[in-house]
Amino acid sequence: MTRRMILNGSSYFGPGAVKVLPDELKKHEFQRILVVTDSGTSKNKVSLKIAKLLASGKIVYQIFDKVDENPSIQTVRACVDSAVLFRADCIVAAGGGSVIDTAKAVSVILANPEFRDVRKLEGEAKVQNRAVPLIAVTTTSGSASEATSAFVITDEDRQRKLVCIDSKSIPMISIVDTELTSTMPAEIAANCGAEALSAAIEGYIAKDSWLMTDMYCLEAVKIIGENLKDAVNGKAAARELMAYGQYIAGMGFSNAGLGLVHAMAHSLCAVYDVPHGLACAVLLSPVLAFNAPSSGTKYREIALALGAKISSKATPAAYRKSCITAVEKLLKEAGLPKKLGITAEKKDIEFLADTALKDYYAGGSPKEAAKKKLVEIFKSVL
Ligand SMILES: NC(=O)c1ccc[n+]([C@@H]2O[C@H](COP(=O)([O-])OP(=O)(O)OC[C@H]3O[C@@H](n4cnc5c(N)ncnc54)[C@H](O)[C@@H]3O)[C@@H](O)[C@H]2O)c1
Repeated sequence: MTRRMILNGSSYFGPGAVKVLPDELKKHEFQRILVVTDSGTSKNKVSLKIAKLLASGKIVYQIFDKVDENPSIQTVRACVDSAVLFRADCIVAAGGGSVIDTAKAVSVILANPEFRDVRKLEGEAKVQNRAVPLIAVTTTSGSASEATSAFVITDEDRQRKLVCIDSKSIPMISIVDTELTSTMPAEIAANCGAEALSAAIEGYIAKDSWLMTDMYCLEAVKIIGENLKDAVNGKAAARELMAYGQYIAGMGFSNAGLGLVHAMAHSLCAVYDVPHGLACAVLLSPVLAFNAPSSGTKYREIALALGAKISSKATPAAYRKSCITAVEKLLKEAGLPKKLGITAEKKDIEFLADTALKDYYAGGSPKEAAKKKLVEIFKSVL
């Protein structure tokens, strides 16, 4: 069987890594840079820092700072319009997954205007032209969008998140500057950490996982397990390791796929606009329980990576239980809830289940789910 691995071109890591930006832009002879960001990231002076760097390098730039959480088709279109008006030849995304995903969609659409509708990009779209070059500067430790060939955009009219998979969207350069992630408040660090943990675990047990994706995903589980709590509490060394852990998860799950946690989180985010990481946090344990019978010995490895003691004689039932307990303990220590506190009617929950089943990532689940099961899980986490 032939397997394919797609990883991004160059990446820079470490405190202060963003300083490479002016030299990289000049080296590639980019003339007009659209910096894409959001108000939260701007408030934390990230865009100011980038603006200063670009100005010091005498680089012509403009800032688009209107990206929303769970970014919408309308946001992508507004950003495309700004890029066209400004005649941008390179996009610099400075933010978390919402910003980088928006920038990915924009860079693909600028080179392929027939996809302006965004909806046509859902799944593995047949996009012809290389995207406009994208440099991703991540400011959260969650989505790993800077390392993946996916982007997720909300179709507000249909209350669905569209998962778009396109190797042309992968950033040409990624920058994981751990000084930039240090300003995340505890709640955002916890949500993002839960998102990274969910992605690492889902990538590890996904249908298309294999030796090489397992290597990334399991290492990411270990790093996140060891550092999430301290990162939420603001410890600098743990924040730095979380940034690397989520990036490593990205290299794995981008090539292995994801599963029901992400598919179901997309439904919750599209309808209730909850933070993506929070939705992943509440869904992870019940989805792990559902997938347990189809997980082989992988829950044993996850439990061990999370520091659980597993005897060599432990039965599958025992190590699967230990795995779920270890995940729940980690999420609890990070201050994450088990429920969202949302009131929903029966028809709303049915809609959530229907849209989750249509989500691109549902197909990666090791165990196929029926609507009834998804309804049950949604009821348990609302
Ligand atoms: N492309 C992918 O492969 C992929 C994978 C998983 C998730 N996603 C998507 O990514 C999005 C979630 O991304 P996210 O979890 O990184 O969060 P986010 O980008 O939505 O940001 C969350 C909040 O944190 C704020 N923020 C960002 N950086 C900050 C900083 N340094 N200091 C203070 N505040 C800061 C933002 O302003 C925002 O309010 C979702 O839309 C999800 O669907 C994409």
